[in-house]
Amino acid sequence: MYTRKAVLPDAENLRGLIADFSGDGTLLPRSLAEICENIRDFTVVVEGDELLGCGALHLYGTHLAEIRSIAVWPRFKGAGAGRLLVDALLEEAELHHVHCVCLFTRIPEFFAHMGFAEAKREELPDKIYKDCANCPKLHECDEVAMYRGELPQFAILPRPAKLQLRVRQPLVKIER
Ligand SMILES: CC(C)(COP(=O)(O)OP(=O)(O)OC[C@H]1O[C@@H](n2cnc3c(N)ncnc32)[C@H](O)[C@@H]1OP(=O)(O)O)[C@@H](O)C(=O)NCCC(=O)NCCS
Repeated sequence: MYTRKAVLPDAENLRGLIADFSGDGTLLPRSLAEICENIRDFTVVVEGDELLGCGALHLYGTHLAEIRSIAVWPRFKGAGAGRLLVDALLEEAELHHVHCVCLFTRIPEFFAHMGFAEAKREELPDKIYKDCANCPKLHECDEVAMYRGELPQFAILPRPAKLQLRVRQPLVKIER
């Protein structure tokens, strides 16, 4: 079992795997077009010819990257594929000199086991501006924000005008 960067011929397989977990909201649905466009974000874990799982690293800048779309087919669960994926994505972040890797999840126990700690959503403004601002669950989010490394002190994305924030914009250092 090993990890490698995904290539376009993996895209349909990734679409099926992500779709398997998006029905109940575990993962955000990703269309085939979106997966193809972002294929370079994806890492896969494989054994022989079989694709066991996938995960993606979205780069905001050296201040922040996000682990997304991490999934292992149920029949391969518990065999170490998830850990291999997280390790590979963290290594990739390191390669890019990223100081903080974040994610939003409903299984914080798994990621705590991988060295992630809980964050406040507003401590990850780029993530909020990119995704949460357009999410119907903005004010009743059931996911836990988590991070590894140093929390960012700024956002690189513009704050969407329509975002009626109940979260404050941390433009200055946050006291934890
Ligand atoms: C979460 C998921 C990726 C884990 O993959 P996996 O291949 O089963 O995980 P691994 O076998 O590599 O487990 C690594 C470690 O995490 C632990 N672990 C696995 N799932 C866990 C969970 N839900 N909660 C807490 N710990 C967990 C394992 O016991 C193992 O511990 P160890 O290394 O001390 O033995 C997989 O279960 C999955 O695809 N879940 C559905 C999709 C999902 O929820 N993705 C996350 C969205 S943010």
